[in-house]
Amino acid sequence: MTTNKTVFITGTSTGLGKLTAKHFAKLGWNVAATMRTPEKETELTAYENIKLFKLDVTKLAEVNAAVDGAIAAFGKIDVVVNNAGMGVYGALELAEEETIDWQFAVNARGPINVIRKFLPHFRANGGGMFINISSFMGVTTAVPLGSLYNMSKFALEGLTEGLYYELKPLNIELRLIEQGGSSGNNFLNNIRWSKDDNITAYDGLMNKVTGMMASRSDEGSLDDPQTIVDAIAAQATGASRQFRTVVGEAGNNLLALRSSVPIEEYLETIAKGYE
Ligand SMILES: NC(=O)c1ccc[n+]([C@@H]2O[C@H](COP(=O)([O-])OP(=O)(O)OC[C@H]3O[C@@H](n4cnc5c(N)ncnc54)[C@H](OP(=O)(O)O)[C@@H]3O)[C@@H](O)[C@H]2O)c1
Repeated sequence: MTTNKTVFITGTSTGLGKLTAKHFAKLGWNVAATMRTPEKETELTAYENIKLFKLDVTKLAEVNAAVDGAIAAFGKIDVVVNNAGMGVYGALELAEEETIDWQFAVNARGPINVIRKFLPHFRANGGGMFINISSFMGVTTAVPLGSLYNMSKFALEGLTEGLYYELKPLNIELRLIEQGGSSGNNFLNNIRWSKDDNITAYDGLMNKVTGMMASRSDEGSLDDPQTIVDAIAAQATGASRQFRTVVGEAGNNLLALRSSVPIEEYLETIAKGYE
């Protein structure tokens, strides 16, 4: 199957981004696969319709060069997937100043940088689509010591919803995909943990949270990442026009609970799981 459509994806070195790049390539799309270290990539280079571009979403010069390079290579970009992201976990009190800024810089400011750079191109083309990869942690709280990650993904959600009104008249569409934790990625290994050996007040909670994360992946209870890729592709191809797609049982169960009880009861229910 071939198409003349092109997708631009951030964070394609591993996990969901890499799988999404391969999926679109197999669908016959052109793929601008961006990553911080394209010189290390060996798998995506095998695809004729995938071109690699160097992009750290926190660096404006790299955003400008990657977007300009992709437009020059493919002529027109139809869909942008803001996938690059990482997690900061640990008590807020213990977080380094630089780590707090980094969490916002990658997960919220990064998509802002990419979206702003693409808007003139989308306006000139008479439309386009941004698919922003959020999390169940963007629509509800659920994991203690994840306040900074929550902050960054709530910010991405607010940005995406807020942009709807100014981009709708320009035929520029917005989508949010919320996953609840999937297998086959480096997310857990890449988490930056905030710790201080002199402050033990959060140790008990920390042990429970790390234990929960380890047991979830051991038990194989994480979602199949292909289900998330399918949800992304459904939006890009127009098979679905859902603004927000929550993928997987864990995320859907949490959101069902959140919408069915008062917030105080929700918070207590989650907190009890970590007592
Ligand atoms: N896995 C989960 O449990 C989970 C749950 C909910 C939501 N999410 C979200 O899903 C998205 C994909 O994550 P994943 O699960 O596939 O994890 P992953 O394997 O860790 O992939 C994250 C990707 O983001 C890239 N990245 C990190 N910082 C970047 C930066 N400054 N500039 C450009 N790229 C950067 C990483 O590149 P490097 O290789 O260079 O570090 C990597 O390619 C993220 O937005 C994440 O927040 C994940």
